[in-house]
Amino acid sequence: MIHRPRRLRRTDAIRSLVRETRLAPENFVLPLFVCPGTGVRREISSMPGVYNLSIDETTKEVAAAYDLGVRSIILFGLPESKDPLASGAYAEDGIVQQAIRAIRQSSPEMVVMADTCLCEYTSHGHCGVVRGAEVINDESLKLLARTALSQAAAGADIVAPSAMMDGQVGAIRELLDAEGFENTAIMAYAVKYASGFYGPFREAAQSAPEFGDRRAYQMDPPNAREAMREAELDYSEGADILMVKPAVVYLDILRMVRDRFDVPLAAYHVSGEYAMIKAAGQKGWIDEERVMLETLTSIKRAGADIILTYYAREAIRVLKS
Ligand code: PBG
Repeated sequence: MIHRPRRLRRTDAIRSLVRETRLAPENFVLPLFVCPGTGVRREISSMPGVYNLSIDETTKEVAAAYDLGVRSIILFGLPESKDPLASGAYAEDGIVQQAIRAIRQSSPEMVVMADTCLCEYTSHGHCGVVRGAEVINDESLKLLARTALSQAAAGADIVAPSAMMDGQVGAIRELLDAEGFENTAIMAYAVKYASGFYGPFREAAQSAPEFGDRRAYQMDPPNAREAMREAELDYSEGADILMVKPAVVYLDILRMVRDRFDVPLAAYHVSGEYAMIKAAGQKGWIDEERVMLETLTSIKRAGADIILTYYAREAIRVLKS
């Protein structure tokens, strides 16, 4: 036999020599959920190892993550109170804005991203302004742009619009530029499906919609060509980074976006994807560490440069060992 692929699988060292895909600590973005109070560290029951953290606890968590090798975080906020227009999302002293300022002080080297959405801040839990049973697109744009501006003003390096309102990237870019924040980057949740895998997140962020669901603005899971149109729109509106979300059941979409667009590509390994591995691991049904690494590697192999994952710390710990 001339070709024997097994020759290059004989030892650990040889396998490592010919390995095509490698995870690195710099690829990961750690999501954090900031809540009011002091000394609060409340575990999310459907996401073991993930917490609601008050600002003082958040800064400690960020410093510890940085020491471990995490170089980027993304912040979500649980406001003191909610209202129909999500005023907590764009308040100058909003929970995320305060957290950004605190982290800027305590961990100046950390790349700070802010999720730009309204659902955690609206009383009805939808990602935009609601009239009747409808989420009104263009009115929501103004609030999303204000939210991004307040996050940039607080010191966010990157804002990450996730509301799936048409034109949100353009509206944010325009306001940021007009206000002197032309260097704040936009990571667009460009291809975001209406997914059952967000379940645990809605417990963590207390953002489940009060009525209906998000299918009238997030994407229909069976559609792939439509994902290319979404990516094209966000790219042309000025997105610096494109994202596909969820990650694992949309690896085909990740690959398609990678092949068509030459901006950095992010994938969000979402709450339900994390929870499934955790739960099966805790039951002893799978080897959690192995499945975690295999999963994150598949996301990178499919084309992601950046991986948002609740496993960031655990993955880095294993990579370093
Ligand atoms: C905000 C937002 C959501 C997630 C990220 N940003 C929830 C949603 O769209 O319902 C989900 C992340 C996760 O499940 O880990 N709109």
